[in-house]
Amino acid sequence: MSNDNKLIILGSTGSIGKSTLEVIKHNRDFFEIVCLTADSNSIDLAEQINLFKPKYAYLNNHLLIGDLKSKLTHNQTKLLTDTNQLHDILKSDLYSTLVSSMSGSTGLLFTFIALQTNKKVLLANKESLVMAGNLMSKYRKLIIPIDSEHNAIFQVLGHEKTNELDKIILTASGGPFRTYPKSDFDQISVEMALKHPNWSMGRKITIDSATMMNKCLEIIEAYYLFGLKLDQIDVLIHPESIVHSIVNFKDGSSLCQFSEPNMQIPISYALGYPNRINSGRNPFNLSSIGNLNFSTVDHLKFPSIKYAYEALRKPDNSCLIINAANEIAVHAFLERKISFLSIFSIIEDSLDIDDKVLCSNIEDILDLDKIYRQKINKILIKYQTN
Ligand SMILES: NC(=O)c1ccc[n+]([C@@H]2O[C@H](COP(=O)([O-])OP(=O)(O)OC[C@H]3O[C@@H](n4cnc5c(N)ncnc54)[C@H](OP(=O)(O)O)[C@@H]3O)[C@@H](O)[C@H]2O)c1
Repeated sequence: MSNDNKLIILGSTGSIGKSTLEVIKHNRDFFEIVCLTADSNSIDLAEQINLFKPKYAYLNNHLLIGDLKSKLTHNQTKLLTDTNQLHDILKSDLYSTLVSSMSGSTGLLFTFIALQTNKKVLLANKESLVMAGNLMSKYRKLIIPIDSEHNAIFQVLGHEKTNELDKIILTASGGPFRTYPKSDFDQISVEMALKHPNWSMGRKITIDSATMMNKCLEIIEAYYLFGLKLDQIDVLIHPESIVHSIVNFKDGSSLCQFSEPNMQIPISYALGYPNRINSGRNPFNLSSIGNLNFSTVDHLKFPSIKYAYEALRKPDNSCLIINAANEIAVHAFLERKISFLSIFSIIEDSLDIDDKVLCSNIEDILDLDKIYRQKINKILIKYQTN
């Protein structure tokens, strides 16, 4: 096999990682797995190693390496727990394509190393683009989005932004609280927020969908990914999550991509691009759903969308701050330390952090991210109830 289809999957034990491996099961002759990675889930990682027999596997939590070894029936995989070893593999020519499906800001450096060494990146980890959009967008041509909305737009536009484009419209399910009165938002529990009506996803992105911060991050992602002006990006509520985004052209035509809400479909498009491969899913039957609904966003209920536009209008590090504040707030909410509504308050307070520093490289961004997190953790204390 040529190096063209040799993959590293960051976060293979997560929701996107598992969907990626499911697509690969349907296309075993086309892909070779070079490295799988997880944080602590040694049980699923062991199962994946036994099945896919990668050259390498990385487990971030080194305390669980014995546990991982004890579950292996395939013993030819070299096990790593040192981040520098993973960096070396990401810099090497052992693979062609990175599936960036780690959750949160930890994905940034790994993803950036792959881009710097000219690898194709199938990007689910939207946080990395939000944190370092200016730097990462220089490698735009190497990135194929997995996020369903951006993948839908990519299926229409490819890498070429055309002058015939008017706008892109990101669709949003509106999450579990779309029809919930704002006056009841103070009653929202972790369990309620973790019940997404359409998608089965990791915990962090599920909370992001409930606050609609996911759409805030996606506006920033789209801005950098497609090189658009801010007024060329809109959001539309579409509760059924069937139409995954829309491209409007200047002649009044609109093109969209639609399918059942299952990540195997955008993942298979990214893996097979420019060809279409077996996703393991069937074409969607529109008559099975009957009606599709669309409406505008209630910005009073969900202030999240406006954070994206405000941040992108300022030539500072507001996007980095938004990402850090959101990660800290979501983590605290999941730990039951703050209320659902406090997620918005913490992000709004964090956006006041005085900041004029301009970052020209990835190390500066990572350093600044640490400084912002210290400041945001002080803001968090104000909102803690536990
Ligand atoms: N899920 C979706 O449908 C969806 C859709 C669009 C975009 N995305 C984006 O895709 C990314 C992943 O989302 P997800 O829902 O798949 O998350 P998830 O289910 O929480 O999975 C996260 C993965 O990252 C691994 N991980 C976390 N920290 C790590 C570390 N320090 N070192 C190595 N591995 C680490 C986890 O390992 P453990 O299993 O050991 O914890 C797990 O494999 C996010 O950026 C999300 O916004 C997700």
